[in-house]
Amino acid sequence: MSAARKTTVGVIFGGHSVEHDVSVVTGHQVMQAFDPQRYEVVPIYINRDGRWYTGAPLLELRNFEDEVTSYKAVVETLISPSIQHHGLILDPTSRGLFQRSQIQRLDVVFPALHGSHGEDGTLQGLLELADIPYVGCGVLASAVANDKTLTKQILKANGVPVVDGIAFTRDEWERDPDAVLARINAELRFPLFVKPVTLGSSIGIARVETQELLRASIDVAANLDRHLMVEAGVINCIEINCSVLGDNRGLQASVLEQPVSWEQFLTYEEKYLRGGDGMKSAERLIPAPISPELTARIQSLAKRAFQLIDGRGIARIDFLVRPDLDEVYLNEINTMPGSLAFYLWQETDTTPRQLVERLVELAREAHAQKRRSSYNYQTNLISLSAARGVKGIKGAKSSRA
Ligand SMILES: Nc1ncnc2c1ncn2[C@@H]1O[C@H](COP(=O)(O)OP(=O)(O)O)[C@@H](O)[C@H]1O
Ligand SMILES: [Mg+2]
Repeated sequence: MSAARKTTVGVIFGGHSVEHDVSVVTGHQVMQAFDPQRYEVVPIYINRDGRWYTGAPLLELRNFEDEVTSYKAVVETLISPSIQHHGLILDPTSRGLFQRSQIQRLDVVFPALHGSHGEDGTLQGLLELADIPYVGCGVLASAVANDKTLTKQILKANGVPVVDGIAFTRDEWERDPDAVLARINAELRFPLFVKPVTLGSSIGIARVETQELLRASIDVAANLDRHLMVEAGVINCIEINCSVLGDNRGLQASVLEQPVSWEQFLTYEEKYLRGGDGMKSAERLIPAPISPELTARIQSLAKRAFQLIDGRGIARIDFLVRPDLDEVYLNEINTMPGSLAFYLWQETDTTPRQLVERLVELAREAHAQKRRSSYNYQTNLISLSAARGVKGIKGAKSSRA
């Protein structure tokens, strides 16, 4: 039997964010899904303070009940942006006489961070610099999907139905709140939703029915984000989510789910704390009890939206729907990792193992596609500039000029 080399997958989880704990759980779901015969999983844990660690004890979720970073086999690490390293530098700050920092090469990185820096494109940017294939959306799609206003603008411009909203900045609000309120009242009717533009997990989101609450809620949201949005509430709507998987060469849509909430909308606690196991703890109906026509329309809008932002990998696309009026609005695109939606793909006969392997495959294909664009464009610009002197800098002329 030929012993093919295992694929080394670095799974990044935790994070310097309010969604630290959720991400630790997601990270472990991902790590456990890989076939240990074919994949070597390297855990990469970012603690609440933003320090990066790796080491075998991080593979066991129960170790996180203690101070996991105090285990002897857990060492500090960082992902090198240099293409030379193509992975982790272990113990980068060690200064022992005979110690040299060691490199752990990674074939692929699987980000399982939620919220800020995990799905906003910044981590993706680091992995682009490092030239390491990574699972999920690229820099642009991640950044766009992380911004509720930009997402709305792009979708609207391309005929995907979205709810009307007014976008403004914290500065505009602080300078002239009455002008902002006048704009909102001229265009929208209560109930309204106030949203920070780049946060997730319902943080800072409020449903308001009065001018006083509108003002107060914008004040709260303005403490959380520089960009804000007020949106018309869709009355008597149900929520429908659809996961999409694939890339520009082909997308699959999952079965639909209807998360069921007995409050006005899902709060952070409801999403994550009740039962403590990610979205699984919130109640949901799968498949969503809506007509086959509406189901097909939502699936096709989900795929279209993912294409419009040049998404790849996986995302969960959330809709606000009024089945009685046949109205559908796309509410948001949650790019991986916030939303692996293992449970939706299981309904579509895709096991978590198949799902993570497919995602790794997509990551490698995307990397290969990128490689087709050449970075080695040779010029003689440096020699020419050296000979003529650098433009705009007096006295920079070479003596030969
Ligand atoms: N325009 C709206 N009309 C009705 N309900 C809304 C509207 N916008 C948001 N909601 C409710 O608020 C929840 C959180 O809003 P969402 O935009 O999904 O933010 P997050 O990024 O925090 O998930 C939604 O799941 C939905 O229940
Ligand atoms: Mg949401």
